[in-house]
Amino acid sequence: MKIKLGIIGFGGMGKWHAENAPRAGVEITAVCDVDEQKRREAIGSGIRTYQSAEELLADYEVNTVILTVPNFLHKEMCLKAAKAKKNVIAEKPAAMSVKELDEMEEACKKAGVFFTVHQNRRWDKDMLIVKKAFDEQLLGNIFTIESKLHSGNGYMHEWHIYKKFGGGMLYDWGVHLIDQILFMMPEAKIKSVYADIKNILHEEVDDYFKILLKMDNGITVHIELSTYILEYQPRWLAAGDKGTLIVKDFGCEGSLLKTGKLLKRLPPRITETKAGPTRQFAPVPPGGIERKMLPKVETNWSDFYHNIAEVLDGKAEPLIKITEVRRVLLVMEAIWKSSESGEAIKFEEMNR
Ligand SMILES: NC(=O)c1ccc[n+]([C@@H]2O[C@H](COP(=O)([O-])OP(=O)(O)OC[C@H]3O[C@@H](n4cnc5c(N)ncnc54)[C@H](O)[C@@H]3O)[C@@H](O)[C@H]2O)c1
Repeated sequence: MKIKLGIIGFGGMGKWHAENAPRAGVEITAVCDVDEQKRREAIGSGIRTYQSAEELLADYEVNTVILTVPNFLHKEMCLKAAKAKKNVIAEKPAAMSVKELDEMEEACKKAGVFFTVHQNRRWDKDMLIVKKAFDEQLLGNIFTIESKLHSGNGYMHEWHIYKKFGGGMLYDWGVHLIDQILFMMPEAKIKSVYADIKNILHEEVDDYFKILLKMDNGITVHIELSTYILEYQPRWLAAGDKGTLIVKDFGCEGSLLKTGKLLKRLPPRITETKAGPTRQFAPVPPGGIERKMLPKVETNWSDFYHNIAEVLDGKAEPLIKITEVRRVLLVMEAIWKSSESGEAIKFEEMNR
């Protein structure tokens, strides 16, 4: 089925879909936005424009909508779209809570329309490199994975700085970072969740979090995000008993590190500090570590829309399943609980 897309909310992400979805064979049929200026930006491109979601949903040519309005409006728009018998793609975070997501899923099921979420960071090359190392056991038994995102800009914008609109970094990037980990190791169960959420520069919403997920495969996942740390750390670090992998940034600079043969023949060095000696924490001698290229991965974001078209034709299973989206929201709810109590939360996996 050709996706004839109606874009609800023509701000940053609405425009992004208008520009990028056509290369996946999607026709942009209509857009709506309450802001006249935003609508004007769509005129001239041949796309029909509407002032309200209701008007767009009445456009019989639109068969699928994407919800690119601020987070707090996703549920409302999804329920309206389901009622109008349109397939629904929600931007992330799909909903503000598990309860909201359940209502949205129920409404779409009842209406017989397809429902999925734009978890586009599953196509990020940096994450897929770590996933490949995990899948192919390139590091032996992995004991820790660190997924870190730091900015020195101290910057959050517009509705993102207000709670009532669904602002905050956990809803913004947290949802991606958790989804990436659960996508990377779908078989692993989460044993416990510990989190610390802070407001560093923004009064109303979170702009820093540290999350520890203890998985039943022996890996402890450390997710950290800050909008204000002035020296960046690698985007990814994964360490196993046979090597370490570093991916520095979205550009995928980095290396796979292995113990060099030379190290076995070198006597341990002692580093003297002012207060005493250390042998374990002396620098590795030259030649002791081999630096290899990162594994190669291919990724094509267009597969997100190609998959939806195939699902609508009954030819494929959805790549982004609501059960997965729900699990991420359950983890987020455990994260809030842990941060509030200061304690680790035992995570109960649900089979749905
Ligand atoms: N997947 C990603 O990589 C990614 C990236 C950025 C944003 N997002 C998500 O996309 C969504 C939109 O974020 P954004 O950054 O584009 O926000 P934005 O503020 O740039 O755009 C939102 C638009 O919605 C319009 N709007 C508000 N209320 C409306 C209503 N009732 N009816 C119609 N239009 C309405 C606003 O006028 C605005 O133009 C959010 O859920 C956000 O989390 C996803």
